[in-house]
Amino acid sequence: MDVISVIRTKRDHGELSDEQIDWVVDAYTRGAVADEQMSALAMAILLNGMTEREISRWTAAMIGSGERLDFSALSRPTVDKHSTGGVGDKITLPLAPLVAACGAAVPQLSGRGLGHTGGTLDKLESIPGWRARLSGEEVLRVLEEVGAVICAAGEGLAPADRKLYALRDVTGTVESIPLIASSIMSKKIAEGTGSLVLDVKVGTGAFMKTLDDARELARTMVALGGDAGVRTVALLTDMSTPLGRTAGNALEVRESVEVLAGGGPSDVVDLTVALAREMLAGAGIDGVDPADALRDGRAMDVWRRMITAQGGDPDAPLPTARETHTVTAPRDGVLTRLDAYAVGLAAWRLGAGRARKEDAVQAGAGVELHAKPGESVRAGQPLLTLHTDTPEVFQYALGALDADALTISPPGTPHAARPVVLERIA
Ligand code: URA
Repeated sequence: MDVISVIRTKRDHGELSDEQIDWVVDAYTRGAVADEQMSALAMAILLNGMTEREISRWTAAMIGSGERLDFSALSRPTVDKHSTGGVGDKITLPLAPLVAACGAAVPQLSGRGLGHTGGTLDKLESIPGWRARLSGEEVLRVLEEVGAVICAAGEGLAPADRKLYALRDVTGTVESIPLIASSIMSKKIAEGTGSLVLDVKVGTGAFMKTLDDARELARTMVALGGDAGVRTVALLTDMSTPLGRTAGNALEVRESVEVLAGGGPSDVVDLTVALAREMLAGAGIDGVDPADALRDGRAMDVWRRMITAQGGDPDAPLPTARETHTVTAPRDGVLTRLDAYAVGLAAWRLGAGRARKEDAVQAGAGVELHAKPGESVRAGQPLLTLHTDTPEVFQYALGALDADALTISPPGTPHAARPVVLERIA
């Protein structure tokens, strides 16, 4: 087999054979296919797509490039959630302990942020002492004793995807439905969860900007999960405006703890409960209302045990940024638009995210929202507070929040809030 013929097949709108797929994924993982050759193939796939058979085989080849975890010895059913990434998306933090409090085991192998969307591990690392890296035995022990674990995926899980995703990130080939679906599902299937709930984000702050694209991605992933014996459902959820009132690592942990304490912003609570209901149904657990476990402190109790089991101190004060800058409303009116991408970019520029994989993030950096779309504001009222340790970036962050990012319409303008959950695909 030679890589040029594989690239030419896809470049010329052909269908890759099973043998070609198995060979190229394996050869790339071993280093026998060069990065420039794989990036040419990834671009051909992005431009010309893949059939269902090709996507399914590509996913199987990526799973086969590494190890598969096995949680079958656990006494509880396993269920996981994956979000395609958004701004202020801290849902995993309250969700994993909530679902564990209702009786499931939640092995949440998570990632770090790259670009304008935050990463769950970066958020949790703002808790003093908390460790993202656990051994396989530790993961099993925490799952059995606490019910939920949020940690970094080991190097051995779908290594082909690890290499290919890093390459796609720097070659403009991330936004391909076959490549995104196979990337996400290869990791989730290799992780060995019994069931999976996908949170497919739609809007300016998400990979998928339109409902049609989000539907296609969701259907592709649900089918891949089903073929692999993982019960999979997807919720399409709104990402035109940030979730909750914070975007940034420690800021989002603080907001998640408010939700676990029975408060917090209603969109975060609603999405957490909606995803929890789907996860419990997937795990076959009936007759438990997750909203109760949030209200009565059971989810908070699991959160505290989960953080402690991973070396963190749930009572330690969270880091705060050294400097803040507040943006105020220029006039009276109704906030009718607050763009998710602009807020995510501002948080990233303030230091909450990284430009390269090896960069450090600032725990306290980010954006706090004092108003959400649909709320009335008065001239001079704080709209946003920017947080950073490096005040020289304020201007740069403010550049992301230009006139298109934020609209204040005349007082009394009606504003129909978009529901958080837009559709369900099973
Ligand atoms: N997240 C992933 O894990 N892979 C992608 O391709 C996109 C988002």
